[in-house]
Amino acid sequence: MSVKELIRFNNFSFRYNSRDDKILEDINLSIKSNEITVLAGPTGCGKSTLLRAIVGLIPNMYEGEYTGDVIVDGIKIRDAEIKEIAKRVGFVFQNPENQIFMFSVERDIAFGLENLGLEQEIIKKRISKIMKTLNITHLAKKAPHELSDGQKQRTALAGVLAMEPKILILDEPTSLLDPKTAMEFMELINKLCKEEGMSIIIVEHRLDLVLKYADKLIVLSEGKVISDDTPENVFDYKKDIIPELSVPFSTKLYRELAKNQMKFTKPVTGVEDMIREVMK
Ligand SMILES: Nc1ncnc2c1ncn2[C@@H]1O[C@H](COP(=O)(O)OP(=O)(O)O)[C@@H](O)[C@H]1O
Ligand SMILES: [Mg+2]
Repeated sequence: MSVKELIRFNNFSFRYNSRDDKILEDINLSIKSNEITVLAGPTGCGKSTLLRAIVGLIPNMYEGEYTGDVIVDGIKIRDAEIKEIAKRVGFVFQNPENQIFMFSVERDIAFGLENLGLEQEIIKKRISKIMKTLNITHLAKKAPHELSDGQKQRTALAGVLAMEPKILILDEPTSLLDPKTAMEFMELINKLCKEEGMSIIIVEHRLDLVLKYADKLIVLSEGKVISDDTPENVFDYKKDIIPELSVPFSTKLYRELAKNQMKFTKPVTGVEDMIREVMK
């Protein structure tokens, strides 16, 4: 699969109308297709705001002072119709409760497809396909309140994936999930990228959970991009990292050992890397 630029921020800044200060300032980013990009940074640094700018909620739903451009799959978000954006980008909110509101799982998945104006036959096929992929076929008739958090998360994801977006945006998708369900969720996300060619941007605090799948790690601090590289390069012991970032334990250990002259073939971003380094 060829890799091309899918999202570009050009000197983008944004201030919410209700605030005096800019939340994002002079953002320049290029995000490639067929990659998993992790977006990290302390609470309040502007991660959700950046996602809103990709999916068009900024400037369509949140008003404010907007400068520069955000270009997604060739369209300028500022001038684009929501429907045009929705065909390209799927967005799963931090809390799936805000996303599933129909009276059954099946109806919920149908909702977005009906909004795209697809024929009933196609809608039915897409619903059954995505329920199989996400292992929720047995939940088709269940109401949202009958679902566990993990099942709600899968239902929200199903509604978005059924629309077959090129780009999938996830805002802290595992925050309500227990560790095992969160790991399964990440395996699924990885499969969507590697097997279906989907491009994925994920905001996640638990870096230990996501870094092994990440092609890129973007770190925001106080509305500015301070790192944008492979996770290995971001965490290289020769570089400073912001103290508020929840760095995986194996990475902390690597940084301390490397500073104390222990030799590593490359920076460690997870337990598997550390084991490889120690056993070499
Ligand atoms: N709708 C809004 N109106 C005004 N300020 C907002 C709005 N949403 C977020 N903010 C502010 O913008 C800053 C960044 O928020 P956010 O993008 O949610 O950060 P993060 O997702 O990294 O925690 C915070 O100070 C937050 O209070
Ligand atoms: Mg947020």
